[in-house]
Amino acid sequence: MDFELKTLSPTMITGLTADALLVLVPDAFVPAKSDPLSVLVASAERLGDLEPGVGKTLVCYRAPGFKATRVVLVRAGSGSPASVRKAVTAAMALVKVPSVRKLGLVLNLLPGDGRAVRAAMHACADATYVYTTTKPSAKARALQRITVGVDKMAAVQRDFDIGKAQITGVEFAKEWANRPANHATPSMLAEAAKKLGRHPKIKTEVLGPKQVEALAMGAFLAVARGSVEPLRFIVMHYAGGAKGAAPVVLVGKGITFDTGGISIKPAAEMDEMKFDMGGAASVLGTFAALAELQPGVNVVGVIPACENMPDGQAVKPGDVVTSMSGQTIEILNTDAEGRLILCDALTYAARLKPHSVVDIATLTGACVIALGGVRSGLFSSRDDLAVALHNAGETALDPCWRMPLDDEYAEGLKSNFADMGNVAGRAGGAITAAKFLQKFATDLPWAHLDIAGTAWKSGTAKGSTGRPVPLLLQYVLDVAASPQSGAPNVAKSVRTKR
Ligand code: BES
Ligand code: MN
Ligand code: ZN
Repeated sequence: MDFELKTLSPTMITGLTADALLVLVPDAFVPAKSDPLSVLVASAERLGDLEPGVGKTLVCYRAPGFKATRVVLVRAGSGSPASVRKAVTAAMALVKVPSVRKLGLVLNLLPGDGRAVRAAMHACADATYVYTTTKPSAKARALQRITVGVDKMAAVQRDFDIGKAQITGVEFAKEWANRPANHATPSMLAEAAKKLGRHPKIKTEVLGPKQVEALAMGAFLAVARGSVEPLRFIVMHYAGGAKGAAPVVLVGKGITFDTGGISIKPAAEMDEMKFDMGGAASVLGTFAALAELQPGVNVVGVIPACENMPDGQAVKPGDVVTSMSGQTIEILNTDAEGRLILCDALTYAARLKPHSVVDIATLTGACVIALGGVRSGLFSSRDDLAVALHNAGETALDPCWRMPLDDEYAEGLKSNFADMGNVAGRAGGAITAAKFLQKFATDLPWAHLDIAGTAWKSGTAKGSTGRPVPLLLQYVLDVAASPQSGAPNVAKSVRTKR
């Protein structure tokens, strides 16, 4: 799908040849002029055919004065990014037909917020995305070319570029998360990372079982034991910033399938545990976006990838393992495997002398109960980093919500046989999981995003959302623009004890 940005005058709007023109009409629009678009909107409003309310649509065929086959008017409320996204999503449902291959997205009537341009592009891509890798019979996306029309192209060029890169990243993440586990093994994820490593600014290293053993990642190794698929520890370096500048480190949970292990999960909906590498997919997707946008910042992606399977060799409830940090862990529930692979990855991340470390994980069912599918769970012992990530989520319309990390929540992790257990009780499960991770992030400017509720959708719309690529990309861009943004190395004084 090809996006192009164009400055469109009123006469150019009518002259645009397209299978459909999607015109966003904000509430504040006053159709004063006598150009065909104003006349069309005015008549539609007068006849009551274009009702007020974000996402209300009217399809017009052979609209007088227009070259385009269809003109779709859609109400865009205040023209805010959120209402624009809602409006475009509604309108796209009407033009998602094989005969619409070339689309004009007319944003001229909007207030001119660059973020609305990004929101419109995102909604356009989201509505037309089709997964085909293991479903060749699925009709590939019909939409080929989208002309984004605005008043002044120069004012929104940067947002347009970010929008395009974000779509690349989101679709990359969707592709990998949607693939079933037999088409997205740890080795295949590593190959995808290596392919990204062909970019001149990206270098990919892949470690196998022997090297991971040499690093003494006892917790990660314990999870991988039950599978015949060999684990992979993937490290990607994006060098966009000054040599030696502290990198943003993104750590993605890469469980390519989570059966629960010996603490096996029930059969119903277990297929959805192919999405348990959604964190890893979001890191890969963010790198795909970085390759395109090439911001001036250093970023390292770290992905521990393996399957969690039951087997004669599998780790057993009660087994005690030694993590890379030296801390011992009693594995009371083998289904709490995400934190086991992440804890060693966090210890590894500390070696990179990071600007900040953000882990992204489909970590707990409890987070789905707490926040549903709207906001990801955000945990951080650092206020500055939490604020930076929260704001990035708001900007990118990929929101998260901060959760507490009081030390009392760690009580349940105590063990008689190891430095800690890997589970506490059922209460506050998303928080106790975060408290576990925090024990491996001491002295690190660390944050954790629990994306269990936001990374994919269930039911008839089953599939990856590509989240939180928009949030991560925005955060990285914010750091590039001002390294103080959630720059814990600079702002040590803001450190809080939680
Ligand atoms: N991958 C799951 C978390 C999950 C569950 C995500 C459901 C999305 C939907 C994770 O590995 C897991 O199994 N967590 C357990 C932890 C428990 C054993 C403490 C959970 O949430 O039930
Ligand atoms: Mn699990
Ligand atoms: Zn899991």
